[in-house]
Amino acid sequence: MTTRKMGDSEQALVEIARRVLPAGGFGNMPQETIIREGRGGRVWDVSGNEYVDYLLGSGPMLVGHAHPEVNAAVIEQVGRGSTFFANNEYGILLAAEICEAMPCAEQVRFASSGTEADAYAMRLARAWTGKSKILKFEGGYHGMSDYALQSLWPSRAGNSEAAVADSAGIPASVGGEMLVCPYNDLEAAKQLIHKYKDELAGVIVEPMQRLIPPAKGFLEGLRALTSEYKIALIFDEVVTGFRLAYGGGQEYYGVTPDICTLGKVIGGGYPLSAIAGKAEIMAHFDMAKVGTAGFMPQVGTLSGNPIAAIAGLASLKILKRPGAYEKIHATGRAVWAALDKALKEAGIPAIVLGEPVMFDAIFTTRGSITDYRGTLDQDKAMSKRFNDAARANGVFKSDGKIYISLAHDEKDVADTAAAFTLAAKVAAEAVPA
Ligand SMILES: Cc1ncc(COP(=O)(O)O)c(C=O)c1O
Repeated sequence: MTTRKMGDSEQALVEIARRVLPAGGFGNMPQETIIREGRGGRVWDVSGNEYVDYLLGSGPMLVGHAHPEVNAAVIEQVGRGSTFFANNEYGILLAAEICEAMPCAEQVRFASSGTEADAYAMRLARAWTGKSKILKFEGGYHGMSDYALQSLWPSRAGNSEAAVADSAGIPASVGGEMLVCPYNDLEAAKQLIHKYKDELAGVIVEPMQRLIPPAKGFLEGLRALTSEYKIALIFDEVVTGFRLAYGGGQEYYGVTPDICTLGKVIGGGYPLSAIAGKAEIMAHFDMAKVGTAGFMPQVGTLSGNPIAAIAGLASLKILKRPGAYEKIHATGRAVWAALDKALKEAGIPAIVLGEPVMFDAIFTTRGSITDYRGTLDQDKAMSKRFNDAARANGVFKSDGKIYISLAHDEKDVADTAAAFTLAAKVAAEAVPA
């Protein structure tokens, strides 16, 4: 029951990709779909198939693809040159906008990817406190650095304080600097923070971890514990920044960290990320303030790139207009309801988890999920069948998250509801007897 047709030129590209790219791809989505273009809330593949897009480039395209105002801003700058490795007007104005929007941000430093921003944020916590360990939460995603790739996808039975590396090639010594704790378990975090207070430089957390919202009091508890012992509280807002609300997870959940990292939305679809925080902490990027011993060099060829900065500024201007977040949340609630209904009608056990701006179904018989362990017994085969069928029927999404954009409209929602109904039927019928 699939509608997607693959043409010869897409097939030829897939074959080239299989030859020249390890695993035939860029390491992200299934390799058989090659996207040619996007507009608003939709994308098209090379064969001309159209999809409602809930991947949004893995999140950056919150205002929709090829937004005319973002494009016009980018084109204006492209004609004046694309990178200078020097301060530029738009990077400065974007930093000022971030300081205005994010409760924790008094100063900003730019990098190009979320991975880099998170790695710098952890180092910044070490520079500020003079301590070395970082506590992260099991299943928390903070990019691809050696420090971040610890207990992201552990399959071991326990979730003790020692981290496990998720990748080949990571020195064992790195794991020794990381502590791991279940998300939403304030008691476990408290015990670790008390035990390691003299070694602990920072606690890094996604305010909403993947699809799991914070339990009441969890972020507040981390805030209180870290303040008590001069441990930096780092919110990884690469996904949540400017998405849950204009002021990110810190505004949405009402807890202000010491440092936050940003990416995705702030570059408007171009490579840009940021570390933002209190001036006292950000001073470690300024040798004149902290001297050579406390100084943290931070240099990147494309940091604060003017095209990315102008695209980010144009996107933020659109998001700042009255009603923007209300619309994104309302669209999300409608898509959420359609997903829930389709799965229930097909008799597929699942819960839809997240916040209205980003959520997805977890195929499980559990009634609730509060941490990474709770996701381990999900029915991955059912998830694959449902998501493959959704893609085959015109909904482009990953197996992990539905991102809602400001551009999605009522027709997108109606088409999505129809595709989810079909996909749920296909997935349920394919269950082996
Ligand atoms: C919460 C979070 N932090 C960091 C990153 C890494 O960002 P990037 O892919 O730009 O390196 C991601 C990427 O999806 C993310 O979701």
